[in-house]
Amino acid sequence: MPRLTVNDRPVHFLMDSDTPLLWALRDAANLTGTKFGCGNGDCGACMVIIDGEAIRSCLVDLSEVEGRFVTTIEALSADRSHPVQQAMVAEGAIQCGFCTPGFVMAGAALLAKNPGATRDDIAAAIPNLCPCGAGPRILRAIERASRAVRRRERIDPLPAPGIDPAEAAQDVPAIDFTLATPSSESEE
Ligand code: FES
Ligand code: FES
Repeated sequence: MPRLTVNDRPVHFLMDSDTPLLWALRDAANLTGTKFGCGNGDCGACMVIIDGEAIRSCLVDLSEVEGRFVTTIEALSADRSHPVQQAMVAEGAIQCGFCTPGFVMAGAALLAKNPGATRDDIAAAIPNLCPCGAGPRILRAIERASRAVRRRERIDPLPAPGIDPAEAAQDVPAIDFTLATPSSESEE
């Protein structure tokens, strides 16, 4: 029964250890921002950050993330203010939005390690696909986020969407306790 930390919260997944992390996040932890695209590592829609690395969660079993720290799009920033998120909106780089969380997580992990990433660096490091054809705009947005991270450019925050993240969290609990429990409770 794998134990790991998801979005800074210790979680004990009551699932087989060979369950893909993607399904544990989506079905047990109700963290549906991480998307199921291809399920075989091709599209990047399921990208999360594990110990600082962008990793496709469909390719990783729970046993492989035992004791590790996983961050999903829900916890990248409390108020959607991460430079990659701001740049994606500012560049109009979101069409249907299905690929967006994966690109954002991949871009955020890349810029954390290489804030000066060039367009070529970004294209080489981020294998994600956008079937809508927004790929060039997405790469431009991540390049713009790189400038913002290095304070070469300021991206003016856009108006917040009409739903408060705290309210959304109330309506859709972040953890479904029928399948995933915080470690402390599971030990009682
Ligand atoms: S769903 Fe994981 S790479 Fe496509
Ligand atoms: S915006 Fe639709 S898949 Fe990328």
